[in-house]
Amino acid sequence: MLGSKVLLLAGSILGVAAQAPLPVVDLGYELHQATFNVSRKCLQAELGGLKGPVPFQQAIVQSPGFQMTPSATLQESIYNSFLTIAGVDNLDEARNLSTQDLQLANYKLVGSSYPYGSSTFNPVVDQAFAPTLPGQLLLHGQFDHSLRIMAGHNILEGLEFMNPFAQNETAFEDTLRLCFPTITDAEVEYISYTLYPPVFDGSVGYTTPTGRSELMITEAFFTCNTNFLARAYDNNVFNYMFSVSPSLHGDDIPYTYYDGPSASVKNDTLAVIMQEYFTNFVMTSNPNGAGLPAFPTYGASATVLDLNLTTIGPIPDNVANERCLWWQKGLYA
Ligand SMILES: *[C@@H]1O[C@H](CO)[C@@H](O)[C@H](O)[C@H]1NC(C)=O
Ligand SMILES: *[C@@H]1O[C@H](CO)[C@@H](O)[C@H](O)[C@H]1NC(C)=O
Ligand SMILES: *[C@@H]1O[C@H](CO)[C@@H](O)[C@H](O)[C@H]1NC(C)=O
Ligand SMILES: *[C@@H]1O[C@H](CO)[C@@H](O)[C@H](O)[C@H]1NC(C)=O
Ligand SMILES: *[C@@H]1O[C@H](CO)[C@@H](O)[C@H](O)[C@H]1NC(C)=O
Repeated sequence: MLGSKVLLLAGSILGVAAQAPLPVVDLGYELHQATFNVSRKCLQAELGGLKGPVPFQQAIVQSPGFQMTPSATLQESIYNSFLTIAGVDNLDEARNLSTQDLQLANYKLVGSSYPYGSSTFNPVVDQAFAPTLPGQLLLHGQFDHSLRIMAGHNILEGLEFMNPFAQNETAFEDTLRLCFPTITDAEVEYISYTLYPPVFDGSVGYTTPTGRSELMITEAFFTCNTNFLARAYDNNVFNYMFSVSPSLHGDDIPYTYYDGPSASVKNDTLAVIMQEYFTNFVMTSNPNGAGLPAFPTYGASATVLDLNLTTIGPIPDNVANERCLWWQKGLYA
């Protein structure tokens, strides 16, 4: 998992249980706990596709990220690595190990994750709990349509999760083959030369190999998910972009859980405004409220609310693009 808010609809969901509303005045520890609790249910519900209604009414989905793992090939290789590191031959033997030994094996496996920036464990498609990838479930209408969504992303979500050594074409393509072991040569070529071509004059959104890899990881593993959600819910969602520089993965969290001035919050007013949006959304399914800058719905024009250091206002969503449409098809496995 890529940190504290990583799984699609799991790392950072604030949800409201139908029968037991959250204490909306306390956006602190309690909500964080509830977030975690609801996250697990939400992941189950979302990935469960047609398994019935979710046990809450709203979801605030922040920086939903994970490495898509649809093929059994990667799952099997992780499983075998785990057995090797644990020094056992099969699952039954692993089950007989002490908790301490299992934790150590887990620690070693995660610690040796490759490529740099990955962390080995991710939600996988198992055909049972998760019939297919979330993006495809959303694309094909297999989800709880009654849920109300507010989804947000930052700009450089992928920077800390990209391989800093991926500075040439070979390394860029190797990353794709490591992440998606069953990807075809044709799809590698499509990603490398059509979606994220090695063109560094700024015309395709980056000027360095680092920028290229960063955009690929950002969109594929994080930000496209917010666009998938918007389109699944007929654009009738409230999405935002947290753009306060450097806008890395997690930079919005101190604002979300703001509890007084801190070094990681550069504008306290912005933090309070964000909390008012979240609180209004929890209470009424609409973030708008008296005294707040208008928060538009996504709509056909794919508008997000830009939450920047000194300004708050509507802008076109930077992930409403052809690349995200392609990633959603799941052709990489
Ligand atoms: C979250 O789940 C834990 C374990 O089931 C429980 O002890 C805790 O009270 C729950 N917290 C909230 C806020 O729901
Ligand atoms: C697990 O431990 C039990 C109890 O010591 C033993 O009977 C069993 O054979 C072990 N199973 C494996 C697969 O090692
Ligand atoms: C590409 O980058 C990799 C990783 O740093 C390096 O091992 C390899 O030699 C580079 N290849 C070329 C052709 O520069
Ligand atoms: C955010 O504000 C900074 C200046 O503080 C500006 O350079 C940047 O372009 C803005 N980004 C967005 C997406 O609003
Ligand atoms: C903080 O954000 C608010 C809301 O956008 C803005 O009015 C204010 O000027 C910002 N303050 C600073 C010091 O940037």
